[in-house]
Amino acid sequence: MAYNLLKGKKGIVFGALNDKSIAWKVAERAHEEGAELVLTNAPVAMRMGEINKLAEQTNSQVIGADATNLDDLSNLLSQSMEIFGGKMDFILHSIGMSPNVRKKRSYDDLDYKYYSQSIDISAISFHKLLQTAKKMDAINEYGSVVALTYIAAQRTFYGYNDMAEAKSVLESIARSFGYIYGREKKVRINTVSQSPNITTAGGGIRGFDGLYDFSDRMAPLGNASSEECADYCVTLFSDLTRKITMQNLFNDGGFSSMGMSARVMGFYNRCLDNLLPDEW
Ligand SMILES: NC(=O)c1ccc[n+]([C@@H]2O[C@H](COP(=O)([O-])OP(=O)(O)OC[C@H]3O[C@@H](n4cnc5c(N)ncnc54)[C@H](O)[C@@H]3O)[C@@H](O)[C@H]2O)c1
Repeated sequence: MAYNLLKGKKGIVFGALNDKSIAWKVAERAHEEGAELVLTNAPVAMRMGEINKLAEQTNSQVIGADATNLDDLSNLLSQSMEIFGGKMDFILHSIGMSPNVRKKRSYDDLDYKYYSQSIDISAISFHKLLQTAKKMDAINEYGSVVALTYIAAQRTFYGYNDMAEAKSVLESIARSFGYIYGREKKVRINTVSQSPNITTAGGGIRGFDGLYDFSDRMAPLGNASSEECADYCVTLFSDLTRKITMQNLFNDGGFSSMGMSARVMGFYNRCLDNLLPDEW
C-alpha cells in the first residue's frame, strides 16, 4: 500500500545490482511513494546487472559512479541536481564488497591490500559521498541519508570476516558526520542494521544459510525481508522522522535484543541428542 510519503521528494539510490538487491526494493518502494529517483552503481556492476530494467520500471535516470572515486561522486551529484532541478532530499548507500570474502581468505589470513579495499568500498565511500555532498550543498534541510549495515559491527559473527570492521567504520561515520551535517545543514544521517537476506553480497558470506536460519529462529518476529527494509528506509526518508539522526537502527525482528529463543533451544537440544558422548 502506498501512502504518498515521498511525494515531491528526490533522491539517489546506490547499489541496485539485480532484483535481489535491497537497493532494488528501496527504489521500487520510494517510487511507489511518489519519489523522483536517480539510480547509480559502479560501471562494472552496471554492465553485469539489470539496473536499466529498474530505471524503466521507476521512470528514473541511471548515472554510473564508482563510490570510491571522488570525481565520479561529484559528477553524479551535479548531474543529479541538474535532473532534479535543485538539491535532493535523500540518498541510500547500499554498498558492500570484500575482496577477502570473495577470495575466501579467512580472518587470520587476510590480504592487507584487499582489507583496505573492503573498508574503502564498504565504509569510506560513505564518508566520500557525505563530504562531496556537503561541499556541493547538494542535500535539502532535513534531508536524509541512510546506509545499510549489519550487527557484526558490534558482535562477532563467524564468516563475516573483514566486513565487520567495514561496518563498524560505516556506523561511526554516520555518527561523526551526522553531528557536523546536522549542526550546519540540518541533514540527517542514519544506518539501518538489517537482518540477513539472500542477495549477491549476502550470499558471499561463509555459512550464510546457517546464519540466515539461526537469526530467523532467534528473532521473535523472524528476519526482516528486503521489502521490509525498503519500508523502513522510506519512513527514514520521509518527513515523519525529521528528528532522527546519528542512529544505528535495527530492522531485525528483535534479533539484536535476544540471547536465546525457544526455537533455537529446541533445535540445539535435538542436535545434542544426536551427538555421540565424545562429541559434547
Ligand atoms: N544481504 C544481507 O544479508 C545484508 C544484511 C545487512 C546489511 N546488508 C548490506 O546491504 C547493502 C546492500 O547489499 P545487498 O545485500 O543488497 O547486496 P548486493 O550485492 O545486491 O548490493 C551490493 C552493491 O554494492 C555495489 N558496489 C560494490 N562496489 C561498489 C563501488 N565501488 N561503487 C559503487 N557500488 C559498488 C554492488 O555493485 C552492488 O550493487 C550492503 O551494504 C550490505 O552489506 C546486507
